[in-house]
This record gives sequence, C-alpha cells and structure tokens, in this order.
Amino acid sequence: MTELTHIVSALLAHGKGILAADESDSTCAKRFDTYGIEKTEDMRRTWRELLFGTPNVAKGLSGIILYDETLRQKASTGEPFPEFLSKRGILSGIKVDQKTESLAGSPEEEVTKGLEGLQDRLTEYGRLGATFTKWRAVIRIGEGIPTEQCLRENGKRLALYAKACQNAGLVPIAEPEVLLEGTHTLARSEEVLTKTLAVMFEEMKKAEVSLSEMILKSSMALPGKESPQQGSGQAGEKASLKEIAEATLRAFAASVPREMPGIVFLSGGQTPLEATERLNEIVKEAKKQELPWRITFSYSRALQEPVLKAWSGKTENVTTAQETFEKRVEETARASEGRYSH
Ligand code: 13P
Repeated sequence: MTELTHIVSALLAHGKGILAADESDSTCAKRFDTYGIEKTEDMRRTWRELLFGTPNVAKGLSGIILYDETLRQKASTGEPFPEFLSKRGILSGIKVDQKTESLAGSPEEEVTKGLEGLQDRLTEYGRLGATFTKWRAVIRIGEGIPTEQCLRENGKRLALYAKACQNAGLVPIAEPEVLLEGTHTLARSEEVLTKTLAVMFEEMKKAEVSLSEMILKSSMALPGKESPQQGSGQAGEKASLKEIAEATLRAFAASVPREMPGIVFLSGGQTPLEATERLNEIVKEAKKQELPWRITFSYSRALQEPVLKAWSGKTENVTTAQETFEKRVEETARASEGRYSH
C-alpha cells in the first residue's frame, strides 16, 4: 500500500463519510445571513469549532474538507484546526479550486480556475497538515447544455489537478457537480452524469492519474429541482428512491472505472432527509448489484443546515446545535452502510 492508498482507505472507512466544511467566505456569508449571524472571521472560526468539536462525530466522519482560512485558524484550545482534528482521528482536507470563469463560446457554462500556482499551494497545504484536497467543477443542464467542450475542458482541468495533487503527496477528490437546478427529467440527469464522468475519466487516463489513489465526488442522478418528477406533478410521476438509485448506479457502472476505490456524494441542495434516504437506497442497491466501490457521503448542506439553524450564532444554543450535528452525522453514517431507517 502506498501512502496515498492508505489515506484513501482511511477516508472511505466503513460506517464513515466526509464533512465538506469548505465554503468560501462569500458562501458562508450567504448561509450566515439566513439566520442573522455576524459575518466575521471569528464567527466562522467559532462555527467550525462547534462542528469539529462535537462529541462522537469521529465515529461517523473520516475527514473534513476545510477552506484556506480554516486550515490556518486555531481552535480555542490553541491548536491549529488540522491538529485539533487529527487528535480526534479525523483527517484534514482542503478545497484548492478557485473561482469559475465562463466557457469561451458558451457563456452560460463555467469552467473552474485554480491551476495557476497550484503546485506551490499544495506544498504549503501539505505542510499545514492537509492530507487530501478537493476540486469542484460545475455542470449545468439546460437547452443544448452541457456542451462536449464544457465537459472536456472541466475534465482536463480536473485531471491536471488530480495529477498535481498526487505528485505533491495529497489525495485528490475530483468533483464534477452536475447541478440540480433545472426542469430536466431523471433520465436526462442520468445521461449527463454518465457523459460527464466518462469524459473526466478519459482525461484522467490521458494525464496518467493513478485511479487507486483518488476519490470521485459525484452528484446523484436526480430530476431537476423544477421537474414535475420532484413531486409537484401528477400523482405517480414523482421519481422513487429505487428509480433514483438505479439511474445513479447505471451511470456509475457505465462510466466509473472499476479500479476506482470509492465514490462520495455531494448533497447539492437536497433536504437532509432526501440526501440521507437516497444515499441509503443507493448503497443497498449497490450491494445487491455487487458493485466494486465503497459509496458514502461528503455533504455540506445536508449535514450542516439544521445545525446552523439550531445555533443561529448564539452561545446558549451550542449544546443543542452539537446534539443536532451528532444525530445528523450518525444517521448519515448509517445510511452509508444501507442501514438507515426514518
Ligand atoms: P453540498 O453537500 O452542500 O452540495 O456541498 C458539497 C460540496 O462540497 C460542494 O462542493
């Protein structure tokens, strides 16, 4: 086993998943605004410490993805967060992609930036205690999109990113997020997911990325947020858990190489309950089909939203918020084994 495959195995440990806590300052500000929480560096630090210091979460979390600011901050114990987490048996990861830019010739589509200066940033992040990283590309579904060019350009950048990480001794988590926004059907989502992953893995092979030393972070195949299949249409039209699980796994079976060790899901705007039930169903179905990958979660919103609400920036709410988080992690971790029941 190489150093990197060791980290991959630890991240994909049974009964565990990954917390994404890598919201940029502006995304964090939007979430804080919902509950009137002050948008200061210290409140972001306090919020992250509330999550990371919750009792028993290491039972269900193998790793946490941090944002640049958090990787450099200290817990109130005086320990830098990577050390604070490591003492609790949790690995620290870091988001390394930067902003997006419009795709030349198709302004509705975006490509992710961040390759410039990446090697130096990776070296520094490794020194600060990160063992893995994340890069997110966004794929929008609509009239005539995504284009092949969008999938190709994002796939190429994801592959260059993954290769750079492996060279720097860090495990890459490649995340081509197929967005939930839109009116598309479940079938269209499956088709786009299949193509997105196929193109990305072609580029990974060309760039000679070691597939056993990386993790895929994927969307589920889901009907668009404004699709009648979300349940707003006629009775019987709503996509069932089973249909979603089968569509998602068909996309993976068609496009994800079998030597990939694992797939983690983003929650992408699903409610916490939806994200948990669907993960549970997908894992159960994958076991039935004897698919080779460990499948688990790497959620941000589906784990954090009820906790942020319970906290609302108030010291007197910390215990209740931590109890909410402990329960969310425990339920989601159970779903990652196909053992969740509502
Ligand atoms: P959500 O679970 O909120 O989609 O976030 C996951 C993530 O890391 C997006 O990049």
